[in-house]
Amino acid sequence: MKLDPIALRNDFSMYRNAVKMQGKPLVWLDNASTTFKPDCVIEEIVRYYSEETANSHRGDYDLCYNIDQKILASRKTVAHFINSEVEEVVFTTGTTGSINLVAFGYAAKTLKEGDEILLSEAEHASNLLPWFKVAELTGARLAYVPLDKEGRITVENVQKSLTPKTKIVALAQVGNVLGFVAPIKEIAAICHRNHSILVVDGAQSVPHMKVDVKDLDCDFLSFSGHKLLGPTGVGVLYGKMSLLLETDPYVSGGGNNDKFYKEGTVTFLKPPMKFEAGTLNIEGILGLKPAIEYIEKVGIENINAHERELKAYAVEKLKATKNCVIYNEDSEAGIVTFNIDGVFAQDAATFLNSRGIACRSGQHCAKILNDFLGTPATVRASFYLYTTKEDIDLLADAVAHGKEFLDAYFI
Ligand code: ALA
Repeated sequence: MKLDPIALRNDFSMYRNAVKMQGKPLVWLDNASTTFKPDCVIEEIVRYYSEETANSHRGDYDLCYNIDQKILASRKTVAHFINSEVEEVVFTTGTTGSINLVAFGYAAKTLKEGDEILLSEAEHASNLLPWFKVAELTGARLAYVPLDKEGRITVENVQKSLTPKTKIVALAQVGNVLGFVAPIKEIAAICHRNHSILVVDGAQSVPHMKVDVKDLDCDFLSFSGHKLLGPTGVGVLYGKMSLLLETDPYVSGGGNNDKFYKEGTVTFLKPPMKFEAGTLNIEGILGLKPAIEYIEKVGIENINAHERELKAYAVEKLKATKNCVIYNEDSEAGIVTFNIDGVFAQDAATFLNSRGIACRSGQHCAKILNDFLGTPATVRASFYLYTTKEDIDLLADAVAHGKEFLDAYFI
């Protein structure tokens, strides 16, 4: 069913409040960075603080029990959304926290000198830097899947890059700069034939397309709440139970242990509790449930179709300006990455800001991709369910006038 972004905007106070930037109606095109929150998410967070405050898993009274039940309900909602078992859903601080947990809890424990970690040059820093450190700690070697000429990760190139020493393959399902969808299901199959573990960064995929971990057969999957209409500071690590059992807790303390003794021995709880030490981000976990339910109500396939339509429209409109270069014309996600001719990306973003348009500029945390792109920085516009063609018309009009960017500094 075709979604109606204007009708959906009624559920978002950022739109109802007619937020302005530089005195102009805000045109929010930075959804790959973060997303607006519908009322149901904000209400759930306010309810926790105004009527339901208690810690979780630490009290034998009703308010605490209520929170325990709500955390379980949120975990079940996530599990249903990605088609995992409930116990395979670990709450973390976000995608970065999830990948670090796999890197330091699983990979640092299992990798040996000479083993290989296979990455790509399109990865976000959060899917590179933890692996750099693990390589340093274990003596493992970093290797990169070559991107094809457009910037895609292909099955063929992953196949060519796998060696008997490849133990970990860590790739984003959707790149945060170019927005190509990697064929994760096929990649998982060849990784498993090679006895490699596939760690998927789902930060830019889970909010925008159907992700079914059983169908993909990935080993780990990470994503963030705030990129899918949920709160900041909460995320998910999905892991196959057999691997979660092998993973050490990266953070320890109250709430993740069963028993510990003076001489320094400890037994941990079973996953997912094993990884959830300390007081949890309760408001975040509670807010994740209505966010996912909202997405399910709109329909993830409808959201995906809407974004693909916007992407095609944006490419057509930006090309018509004859005033920019687009780096990812054919990618599937709702992300358009471009430069205005003769205008440095951050100057362009400042100019867009002067027109009320929020786009990210720079290297987008994917700093080694710039060599591939042959440019030090780009501008990125990214869409979501509430983005309209009118937003894109305003972007295209600004791009058409991009040479006037210096005016932005003097108005
Ligand atoms: N990972 C986020 C982005 O790509 C912050 O903008």
